[in-house]
Amino acid sequence: MTSMLSKVIRTGLLSLVFGLFVVAMPASAQQPSSVNPTAQSVKEAQLLDALKPGQSLAGRVSIPNKDAANLIQPGRDWRAFNQETLPRIGTIAILGVLALLVLFYLVRGKIRIDAGPSQMRITRFGSVDRFVHWLTATSFIALAITGANVTFGKSVLMPMMGPEAFSAWSGMAKLIHNYVGFAFMAGVALTFLIWVKDNIPGATDLKWILVGGGLLSKGTHPPAKRFNGGQKIVFWSVVLGGAFLSLSGWHLLFPTAEGMAEAQWHATLHGTVAFVMTALIIGHIYIGSVGMEGAFDAMASGEVDLNWAKEHHSLWVKEEMERKSGSRISGAAQPAE
Ligand code: HEM
Repeated sequence: MTSMLSKVIRTGLLSLVFGLFVVAMPASAQQPSSVNPTAQSVKEAQLLDALKPGQSLAGRVSIPNKDAANLIQPGRDWRAFNQETLPRIGTIAILGVLALLVLFYLVRGKIRIDAGPSQMRITRFGSVDRFVHWLTATSFIALAITGANVTFGKSVLMPMMGPEAFSAWSGMAKLIHNYVGFAFMAGVALTFLIWVKDNIPGATDLKWILVGGGLLSKGTHPPAKRFNGGQKIVFWSVVLGGAFLSLSGWHLLFPTAEGMAEAQWHATLHGTVAFVMTALIIGHIYIGSVGMEGAFDAMASGEVDLNWAKEHHSLWVKEEMERKSGSRISGAAQPAE
């Protein structure tokens, strides 16, 4: 009887508490169909909208790395640049220059020595010149390939190689890029030191550029010193472009305490200069190898055919003959190829 009574009292009390709880709840919460626990929470989109350019959503930290306080980094513009604009710049630069070279080849063909190869050769570049050139050239090519992997690898290579192979290659490419960068920096500095005296622009170069170096028509050879107007453009692009790549690359290798926004700015500069320079260098490689008869010898043996030199660097040949009484000219008995 007693236990029956206590059971009734307990049930009554429970019903009373539940009734009071329901009455105390807002009307909306009493309807199970409208329960939405995240309705009032802040959405990611709202957080992103709260970001003004250059600002970040930050909390507070007591550790030295203040970037750790950033809940959301500023950088949507940078992300869009890296994922959309930079690949576009790269594609236009590289495919554009390749298309121009194909067109140039179809219109002009291989540029021959108009007077034909002579029986004589003239020393154009010594071993130091060639060492510096190939140090800069090989390191640049290694950096261009491994750097392009950052922009195009995931979309172009990964579907072909599969994720495992792509990940292994990308890890290796990153190491190559980080270390070969130092060889390139040394190459650019040495290129500047050994060739700057022959690359000061002058009136002869302007005239050379105005007639397109005579490259478009057979038999036209505007006078040029040791380096012509086109080569001076290549030289200054390598020196200035190389300096920008080196400075921005250094910041990416060794980030300062200035934080993420600074790193993003350097990455943007690095990628843009790299693609513009790659396009120019593709043109340089073409003309320095298959595009022009006799040009490659200058960076292979260091000696070029005298007729080639007279056609492309007439003022330089004259200077060399006067200055050294022709001592750099050799091989009368040794026919040039
Ligand atoms: C396989 C690739 C390359 C080949 C076949 C090549 C070939 C040549 C040749 C033949 C010359 C001498 C032209 C002359 O006698 O007047 C030269 C000069 C030069 N090269 Fe290269 N080169 C290559 C890659 C590069 C790269 C990657 C760079 C720099 C990033 C570079 C920078 C220069 C510079 C600054 C000069 C002096 C200016 C000029 O002649 O345009 N080269 N190269």
